[in-house]
Amino acid sequence: MLKTHVCGDVNFDNIGDVITLAGWVHRRRDHGGLTFVDLRDRWGIVQVVSDPNYEKSHEIMTKLRSEYVVSVTGVVRARPDGSSNPDMLTGEIELVAQEVEILNSSKTPPFDINKFSKVDESLRQKYRYLDLRRNHMLKNLSLRHDIVCFIRNKLSDYEFIEVETPILFKTTPEGARDYLVPSRVHSGKFYALPQSPQQLKQLLMVAGFEKYFQIARCFRDEDQRGDRQPEFTQLDLEMAFVEREDILNLMEALVVDMVSDLTDMKFQEKPWPRFTSEEVLSRFGTDKPDLRFGMELVDVTELVSDSDLRIFSEAEVVKGIRAEKCGSFSRKQIDSLTEFVRNYGAGGLAWAIIGDDGTISRSSFMKHLQIEIQNDIVKKMEGLTGDLLLFVASSKEIVHESLSNLRLKISNETLDLDPNILSFCWVIDFPLFNWNHEENRWDPSHHLFTSPMIEDIPLLDRKPGEARGSQYDMVCNGYEMAGGSIRIHERELQKKIFDLIGLEEKVALERFGHMLEAFEYGTPPHGGIALGIDRLAMLLAKEKNIREVIAFPKSQQASDLMVGAPSDVDLDQLSDLNIQLSLNKE
Ligand code: AMO
Repeated sequence: MLKTHVCGDVNFDNIGDVITLAGWVHRRRDHGGLTFVDLRDRWGIVQVVSDPNYEKSHEIMTKLRSEYVVSVTGVVRARPDGSSNPDMLTGEIELVAQEVEILNSSKTPPFDINKFSKVDESLRQKYRYLDLRRNHMLKNLSLRHDIVCFIRNKLSDYEFIEVETPILFKTTPEGARDYLVPSRVHSGKFYALPQSPQQLKQLLMVAGFEKYFQIARCFRDEDQRGDRQPEFTQLDLEMAFVEREDILNLMEALVVDMVSDLTDMKFQEKPWPRFTSEEVLSRFGTDKPDLRFGMELVDVTELVSDSDLRIFSEAEVVKGIRAEKCGSFSRKQIDSLTEFVRNYGAGGLAWAIIGDDGTISRSSFMKHLQIEIQNDIVKKMEGLTGDLLLFVASSKEIVHESLSNLRLKISNETLDLDPNILSFCWVIDFPLFNWNHEENRWDPSHHLFTSPMIEDIPLLDRKPGEARGSQYDMVCNGYEMAGGSIRIHERELQKKIFDLIGLEEKVALERFGHMLEAFEYGTPPHGGIALGIDRLAMLLAKEKNIREVIAFPKSQQASDLMVGAPSDVDLDQLSDLNIQLSLNKE
């Protein structure tokens, strides 16, 4: 090694030792004829001070600039009285430089590395290798490493076996578009990158592995959001001979132990509460509720059904939320909330402010509702003086979508939520199918391989929309963290699901014939789950975007701004693949 010690490890015990450190110039300053350099490596920072008795190194020190790479040999000494720095791990010592070598110089970085500052996101991504030098990125990626180590150790202790599954594969639908890779050998044919290892892990159960896991890379071509990347990592897991309880208990214990081992965060509730999807939809308007605060959706459809306001009386559903102490919102603020819900298809937002006497003092609909009904609404919504009540009247879906998002917006803007609190829950009993209005057919609400609840199998013939799937989701602070299910393990039932979603037999055989065939060779009952590692790391790092816990993330437009991907390819490469482009490029 070009160094004898790492910066974070130098301490009082080293006083008098001659050591060599190597790293980056974090900061340089000149003071009283001496040069001071904070030398940084992965483990910490040590103050290096020049010594005029060592002329050559004294001179080199004056030439150092931020981010130069240097090695320094010298003697460790206690900092003179009054100059120790209690904020620094190595704040009581310094290294007196006897030999300084510049290993490499550096241009001035495009942003500060030695202090936290807000930097334009695309600049951060273009110079990601510099962004990763910043302390908070190192901390986040170290935490991510610890999370993955914890999972690997724990699951190995439980006799799970980690198996790598292929990336060049066949379509594995999870509700997004596939990324395709053309084959050179099989002209005109394509591999699909896995949206998840779903089929492969089930085939490992057919193979008799019984307990499988993988830290698996998944690929989904879908719109980007703060908690979504086109490639991401799952803890993917599958077990044979299990029921729902086994998976939920295993995962809950894994996450609870991990959080207490790796962080100082607290759970809002333990054991984690469980809700049916119907209940969370009705109370929070979403199947991934943020339970750190109330502001639940209250159904006032009945109360307003006789109103002469047709928007109320004719709506399928009218629900409201109570924004505590937000009665002081200006008209402008309320108008902007109205614009906000319009994004989700709502025609408007009705509002009411509760005055000093505990009744509605101002509202957008007072004239149209009798005073008794207004009071009933306040009572049902448990409204108090100074509160703002907000209502949406529309179809159930629009009401739920607009109010669940409004609930989050208002909480973001008005509540000071403790970032140390994790509010986990399980959502269970999802419907097996959702009706696809555009295509006029049933879509699986989870994926094709989820088993219906055994008691609901008879409903598949009569009322498929009422059949529940044995799906479960793990949710925390408004994010879907994990999803899984007990699987179908019988050929006939799997075929029936293919039929119900309108997959022609020929297509089903072409795409999933291998699954149907495998089910004929002694497939055990099995089930599993996949946990988003990026989302978990984001929450535990107290970040708001998964980019902050991914070393080389993609931009909002799914590009890598550092290397410029996706990029053009040589025409020769395309011709090897027998591909001709017919794009109209500007
Ligand atoms: P699902 O599609 O619910 O289930 O995905 C499981 C978890 O993966 C994470 N996730 C993502 N993270 C970042 N970016 C994305 N684009 C993204 N998409 C999903 C989420 C999600 O909860 N095969 C099933 C699992 C199973 O049934 O066992 C599956 O993939 O945290």
